[in-house]
Amino acid sequence: MGTLLLSGEWCSGLARKLSAQVGFPHYALVTRKFPDGETYLRIPVEVAGRDVVLLICAGRRPNDALIEAAFSLATLRRLGAKSVVLAMPYFPYARQDSEFQRGEAVSLTIVSRMLEEFGMDSLVTVDMHLHRFKDVSEVFSIPTYNVSVMPDLADYVKEVCGNCVVVAPDEEAEQWARVFSEKLGSRYIVFEKKRLGDYQVEVRGAIQGAERAVIVDDIISTGSTIASVAQVLAESGVREIIVACAHALLVEGAEARILGAGVREIVASDTVVNPFMKVSAARALGEGILRAVREVRRLRGSGNS
Ligand code: R5P
Repeated sequence: MGTLLLSGEWCSGLARKLSAQVGFPHYALVTRKFPDGETYLRIPVEVAGRDVVLLICAGRRPNDALIEAAFSLATLRRLGAKSVVLAMPYFPYARQDSEFQRGEAVSLTIVSRMLEEFGMDSLVTVDMHLHRFKDVSEVFSIPTYNVSVMPDLADYVKEVCGNCVVVAPDEEAEQWARVFSEKLGSRYIVFEKKRLGDYQVEVRGAIQGAERAVIVDDIISTGSTIASVAQVLAESGVREIIVACAHALLVEGAEARILGAGVREIVASDTVVNPFMKVSAARALGEGILRAVREVRRLRGSGNS
């Protein structure tokens, strides 16, 4: 019996593209909210003895997505699914990866352990925010695949801003700036960033002799990082600024903040539902999922589908 793709809320567009990409039949989880805010969830297809890929989209609803993932994983196990690959294109809580102040919850570690406890065999994610951890395998004990949508974003940007200078807001973003720079055939520069609060960052950097630039980052949340970098670029004489990111969370006010700082265009992927989904993560996610499913079968000792 073939592998099934099940998807949660906020995933429908990506799930359809992914189903076409990997060739697995797709079913949407049945979910709703009880009047008191609790989550109801039902798996609408027989899963006993099947390999299942579970697509959960977090975005601006991290807590709901985690409940959806936990309920689905536990129920898939109870119903006898043979294996479950969790595909979480945007992995939430990855930015709190350390105890910055005594007594803080280290959310990334807690969330990863919690999901493992509920019984996934493998995890596929897209451009996971890794700052203090260098590799996703340091966070999980199961096989993990951290694929990247950056080459796809860079292909798009090449069409609209071929000779743009690439700008990374901080050291962590240098890896993605390098991908863009290679695809665009232009130079890249790396700014320094210090976060002062949820909505406040301080950036330092210089750009000379550039008329067009693309700022590249993994996540846009409040837009403060991008707006601060764009401001420096505009003050340095850059006349055309575009922004490319994998996960456009774009919390309240972010779009206005970014456009108000002089950005002409935002280019984002569909890992998170947003108004700027110009590039799909289905290619990258699909490749990761196929590798994960193959590996799960190999470890089980059967190559059959
Ligand atoms: C952090 O290092 C990330 O890579 C992003 O730069 C950050 O999450 C963006 O957040 P905001 O849009 O709130 O500045």
